[in-house]
Amino acid sequence: MAVDILLGLQWGDEGKGKIIDFLAPQYDLIARFQGGPNAGHTLVINGEKTVLHTVPSGILQERPINIIGNGVVIDPITLQKEVEFLKSKGVDVGTRLLISKKAHLILPTHKILDAASEAAKGKEKIGSTLRGISPTYMDKTGRNGLRVGDILSSNFQDAYRQIREKHLRLLRLYDFEFSLPQEEQKWMEAIQYLRSLSLINSEYYINDALLQGKRLLAEGAQGTMLDIDFGTYPYVTSSTTIASGACSGLGIAPQKIREVIGIAKAYCTRVGGGPFPTELLDETGEQIRKKGNEFGSTTGRPRRCGWLDLPALRYACMLNGVTQIALTKSDVLNDFEYIDVCTEYNLAGNPSREIPYDICTANIQPVYTRLCGWKNDLRQFSTYDDLPETFLGYLRFIEDYLKIPVSMVSTGPEREKLLLKN
Ligand code: GDP
Ligand code: IMO
Ligand code: MG
Repeated sequence: MAVDILLGLQWGDEGKGKIIDFLAPQYDLIARFQGGPNAGHTLVINGEKTVLHTVPSGILQERPINIIGNGVVIDPITLQKEVEFLKSKGVDVGTRLLISKKAHLILPTHKILDAASEAAKGKEKIGSTLRGISPTYMDKTGRNGLRVGDILSSNFQDAYRQIREKHLRLLRLYDFEFSLPQEEQKWMEAIQYLRSLSLINSEYYINDALLQGKRLLAEGAQGTMLDIDFGTYPYVTSSTTIASGACSGLGIAPQKIREVIGIAKAYCTRVGGGPFPTELLDETGEQIRKKGNEFGSTTGRPRRCGWLDLPALRYACMLNGVTQIALTKSDVLNDFEYIDVCTEYNLAGNPSREIPYDICTANIQPVYTRLCGWKNDLRQFSTYDDLPETFLGYLRFIEDYLKIPVSMVSTGPEREKLLLKN
């Protein structure tokens, strides 16, 4: 009985994929619990970069079985591409990838509805990845969705047509042009492909494995500040990205959870719209974007960049019950003379360490503590204790604020660039 959870503590893209790939040999099962192909999790192995959108990030290690859980929404077209790519790399997808029959399907019309809704919002748009995430979760909670298991039923075509009709009626509310036939044909072919993969009752599979003493790592997508309940609503995604989402997204009881590993960058980034108190709209922000290659793994959009926001990180640690932190991308700040860290907000004259309810409209001024830069190439160090003292001071500053250990430090995108604290 051992379940650990690994998830993002900021606005996504913290480097979850890299850390999962590194930790995967310690586990029997890696299971994605929410989100869909809005995610892009990057692994860099022997100089080769792989971006996974739906398949869990343990797939390129030999040991673990990878499960796409019931909380995930699946676009069969994206999944087919990913699986074909993995097969071409020699991965035995047939036995190493299992898919929950209760995961919901993203339909071609979900993607069109996503685009139509965003277009109608104009300047207020969320900045969605346009992968159909929100309309699919709306149909799930509205009890209209199609699930993976439904593709095995003889009624599938009828059920599909019924939802498609409903979506077409909804689309008439928007002044939005679209073309369906080509995408629909690809989707139907991908459904046929999906039928050939291993579709299971994952809640039973997982709980049986846990009873046998197997170890599971639950893989989060997006990040805590994009959570449907606790993120910067409405500028969020449509799923539960926090630790509790692993229970509902996999069918695991809460008392089975052991470690909650929170991933954070040494600074902050955000893609799409919405509040970002420490955002840097100046030369420094541009420098972080360039050095950190901060462009979306899924959409290629430039990521907004800013300093580390400790009140937001503390909030994320509280919501998730984080037991240890993996800090990524500190190497991006190698050349900086100084590093600012937000320790408090000034809310219209009042100091606060809490995320205000009205974060989207409040006048928030971040209050910074200025720390000395380490001016050292972190990539050259191979043990945690050998890291430069100025950098260790930076880590201690974060640990003291959060009262949580930084147990891992990532110093580059490559699998082996990870230092563990003793
Ligand atoms: P995820 O969505 O949380 O898995 O993160 P992404 O893969 O979308 O974005 C993280 C990006 O940073 C990817 O391009 C990674 O290869 C890269 N990356 C991860 N860790 C590090 C690190 O410690 N240093 C640097 N420079 N890049 C990193
Ligand atoms: P990973 O797992 C960063 C953002 C989008 C948008 C908002 C809503 O790679 O960290 P959606 O398509 O979900 O309706 O978009 O959420 N977003 C992400 N940002 N990383 C992600 O995933 C994201 N998934 C969604 O940019 O602002
Ligand atoms: Mg990503």
